[in-house]
Amino acid sequence: MTSKSRCRFLAMLALVFVVVMVWYSISGEDTYFDLFYLPNSEKKEPCFQGEAERQASKIFGNHSREQPIFLQLKDYFWEKIPSTYELPFGTKGSEDLLLRVLAITSYSIPESIQSLRCRRCVVVGNGHRLRNSSLGSIINKYDVVIRLNNAPVAGYEADVGSKTTIRLFYPESAHFDPKIENNPDTLLVLVAFKAMDFHWIETILSDKKRVRKGFWKQPPLIWDVNPKQIRILNPFFMEIAADKLLSLPIQQSRKIKQKPTTGLLAITLALHLCDLVHIAGFGYPDAYNKKQTIHYYEQITLKSMAGSGHNVSQEALAIKRMLEMGAVKNLTYF
Ligand SMILES: *[C@@H]1O[C@H](CO)[C@@H](O)[C@H](O)[C@H]1NC(C)=O
Ligand SMILES: *[C@@H]1O[C@H](CO)[C@@H](O)[C@H](O)[C@H]1NC(C)=O
Ligand SMILES: *[C@@H]1O[C@H](CO)[C@@H](O)[C@H](O)[C@H]1NC(C)=O
Ligand SMILES: *[C@@H]1O[C@H](CO)[C@@H](O)[C@H](O)[C@H]1NC(C)=O
Repeated sequence: MTSKSRCRFLAMLALVFVVVMVWYSISGEDTYFDLFYLPNSEKKEPCFQGEAERQASKIFGNHSREQPIFLQLKDYFWEKIPSTYELPFGTKGSEDLLLRVLAITSYSIPESIQSLRCRRCVVVGNGHRLRNSSLGSIINKYDVVIRLNNAPVAGYEADVGSKTTIRLFYPESAHFDPKIENNPDTLLVLVAFKAMDFHWIETILSDKKRVRKGFWKQPPLIWDVNPKQIRILNPFFMEIAADKLLSLPIQQSRKIKQKPTTGLLAITLALHLCDLVHIAGFGYPDAYNKKQTIHYYEQITLKSMAGSGHNVSQEALAIKRMLEMGAVKNLTYF
């Protein structure tokens, strides 16, 4: 090469370098690398695409990600592979009721989540540790905020935030006035424990004669929501939370009444929906601490958990394991 052509070559190289740098900076790649600070920590928390998936495969196996998050009509309409288990771990025996529900609800994951390049999620537990946590503004920064059951937002914004992307619930844990505690676009995701739960949602959405019997606590009889906001959670997630996280026997679900809490289920869901999963407000007081309230919003103690079919010490071990392997990170003490 003559020195002139070498010069031209170097100039070309420099130009290519500049173009690549400019493209990289305007493509906004860096916005995913400096958004999060864990409280009490200077460490920045980047979002890596596919990270939760990698972690989830270690816990749940490699094929769990192929499962749809929400149930959809087409999977039931043509009698596909029948489910192995009954509710809450499968849909065996509840197909007819389910069909009627799926005909009036939706199953899509909203475009606002689909279009994210990296899904940063926080699962907000209902735990007392959120009291006076001032985590509200941090929680609101996540792309997806997942809440549980009847956990209120109104009046607690400073500690728990005001954004709700997804709320998991079952009839007995539904808010009587869902508009106050959710955003207009919140996905209300039904976790079905029994066939009656499908029946309830169907009657309430289609204005049929209400069902009153068969619940352990009276669910709302009038429920002002848009059916397009409702999703039905794939019971597969209940199955793998019970099996892989708690090692519960699945087959004998009729006799053995143990099941995961909605909180553990929500973490399982998040590991399948998101790229980064943080948790806040998880954990119960020690068993000897009989006076300590367990939720950030009501005055109940651990005693109220007796007979609920949840083993909180077993769940704590499962969450500890996920924290230790780095599958999830905690925003509050666990
Ligand atoms: C899942 O896939 C990864 C990468 O292909 C592999 O390294 C890992 O062993 C697999 N895990 C299981 C449980 O099959
Ligand atoms: C929260 O803060 C208020 C006011 O500072 C205080 O009265 C209350 O005891 C605190 N609650 C908890 C659970 O720490
Ligand atoms: C709950 O889990 C703990 C820890 O794994 C275990 O020792 C205990 O026997 C379990 N309790 C019940 C009622 O199954
Ligand atoms: C997460 O939990 C651990 C204890 O398990 C605690 O040491 C740490 O401070 C917690 N992180 C935050 C941000 O509270």
